[in-house]
Amino acid sequence: MIKINYENEKTVEVDDLDLSLLEISLANDIPHVHACGGMARCSTCRVIVLDNHENALPPNKREKSLAKKKGFESNIRLGCQMKVKGPLKLRRLVLDNSDIRLSAQNSETTGKVKELAIMFTDIRNFTSFSENNLCYDIVHILNRYFFEMGRVINNNSGYIDKYMGDGIMAIFGLESDDGAESCKSAVKTALEMFSVLEDLNNYLEKYFNTRFKIGVGIHYGEAVVGELGHPSRMQFSAIGDVVNIASRVESATKAAGAPLLITESVYSKTKDVIKTGKIIKEMELKGKQDKYTLYEVLDMK
Ligand code: FES
Repeated sequence: MIKINYENEKTVEVDDLDLSLLEISLANDIPHVHACGGMARCSTCRVIVLDNHENALPPNKREKSLAKKKGFESNIRLGCQMKVKGPLKLRRLVLDNSDIRLSAQNSETTGKVKELAIMFTDIRNFTSFSENNLCYDIVHILNRYFFEMGRVINNNSGYIDKYMGDGIMAIFGLESDDGAESCKSAVKTALEMFSVLEDLNNYLEKYFNTRFKIGVGIHYGEAVVGELGHPSRMQFSAIGDVVNIASRVESATKAAGAPLLITESVYSKTKDVIKTGKIIKEMELKGKQDKYTLYEVLDMK
């Protein structure tokens, strides 16, 4: 006799270990969703194993195939395929009709934890530019700026996550598990952006009598990535403290008088290949209780 604890539901006792988890649930009046009837086709029966992972038998071929297609982490299991050999705790992930609808959409809605380098950029003096120029020119220049910067991001295997006014959030490391590579790509991108900006500034100076300055902040850490939003407009994005901190680091570039700042986590992965300038110790970041050491990056070695 073993016990299975369904978090926030109940604990059931199981004698027959030949049963699948789904069969155990249904035998114990747990409304375990199973839209495809247990054929390993829908994933609505999925659960997350919370502890005693070793008591869940390894996935069979059908489960492996669906998990690969959906990009599930190893602790996400199909109730209709999984069997147990000892006590464990789990949580059902599809509980109502809204969950079922989301399950039917893109697999990315399930979310994944990933280590990423997150970069935020902002044009320092864009507000004064927009106050003194025609709407047409503002949109034209901004799109020219986004085109040039986007090209650099794409060339360095980055992903443009979103635009925020004149700001850009970019992600590095979605396709790789090599954190050092992700951080190097992000720093290299930032440096190339400054170089591309020089060319754009020559144009701006000639036709608009202005030059842009940008601030860039980069932080590396764990984020949750997935498709977010209303079904009519889902958007892939990363969320988590790493994103908030990267944004705050970018904001700190102005006060620090350093256009490109990285955190300790990025520095530790790139120190062999970058030249640093100022080191700002015990920097307070807005909304954060901890203090951070930030490094100005001047160039690649
Ligand atoms: S019930 Fe459809 S995959 Fe398990």
